[in-house]
Amino acid sequence: MASIHIAAQVGEVSERVLLPGDPVRAKIIAENFLDDVHQYTAIRNIFGFTGKFKGVPVSVQATGMGIPSISIYLHELIHVFGAKKLIRVGTCGGMNEDIHLRDVLIAQGSSTDSSIVNQTFGGAINFSLLADFNLLRTAVNVAENLNLPVKVGNVICTDLFYNDYDDINGTFGDGKNTFNDKLRRHGILAVEMESAALYLQAVAAKVQALAIFTVSDDLWRNERCTASERENSFNDMIKIALETIIK
Ligand code: HPA
Repeated sequence: MASIHIAAQVGEVSERVLLPGDPVRAKIIAENFLDDVHQYTAIRNIFGFTGKFKGVPVSVQATGMGIPSISIYLHELIHVFGAKKLIRVGTCGGMNEDIHLRDVLIAQGSSTDSSIVNQTFGGAINFSLLADFNLLRTAVNVAENLNLPVKVGNVICTDLFYNDYDDINGTFGDGKNTFNDKLRRHGILAVEMESAALYLQAVAAKVQALAIFTVSDDLWRNERCTASERENSFNDMIKIALETIIK
C-alpha cells in the first residue's frame, strides 16, 4: 500500500531516512553516497530513494520547504512506512557572529513561531522541541571522529522566509533592539523552516529525530553561498548524517 504523497510500497522505505528539502539534492545524495539505489517515488517531483550505506539500507526522502510540506512526508514516513530514525539534512541562515557560511550546525533545540505547538497543546504550555539525545550524541561523536567541526545549539524554525516586519528584519548590530537581536542574545544560532515539525512529530511517535544544517546564508554579515560552495560543504553534513544514522 502506498501513501497519498509517497508512491512506495511498505518495505521499500528504510527505517532510516535522511530528509533534504530539495528533491534534486535527494537525488544527488542517493547517487553519490549510496549503493544499490532505487527510486520509490516521484509524486509531485518530490523524490524518494532507498539505497545502502556501508551495507545498511538508508532512504533519502525530499520534503519540500516549510512545516506544512515536511509534516505531510513525516507523517507518512513514520505512520505508514515505519521510519524510526529521521535526520533532516538542510540549509539554514546563520544569525550569530560566531556562525559563518558553510559551517555545519546541529539543532539541539528548535524554537518556533509556528502554530503547531499551540495546535498540539492548546496553548497550555510552550513545549520545548528537542533533538533525540542519543542521535545528537552520536552525531557529535561521529563529527569529532571525522575531524569535521560542528556547532550545536538552538535554532529558530520560522514560517516566513520573507517577512515585512521591520522589527524582525532589522539589520544586526545597528544598535536597534530588533527581534533578530533578541533571538541572538538568547543563543539562537540560525534560522530554518522545518525542524520544529520534525522534533514534534518524532517525540509524539517515539521515534528518533535530528536536524543538521549547512549555513547557506549569513544574516549577520549579509552574505550568501554560491551554488558550488553549497555543494561542497553539504558533503560534510551528509557524511556526518549517514555515519550517524547507521549506528
Ligand atoms: N531563512 C529561513 N530558512 C533558511 C534560510 C533563511 O535565511 N536560509 C536557509 N534556510
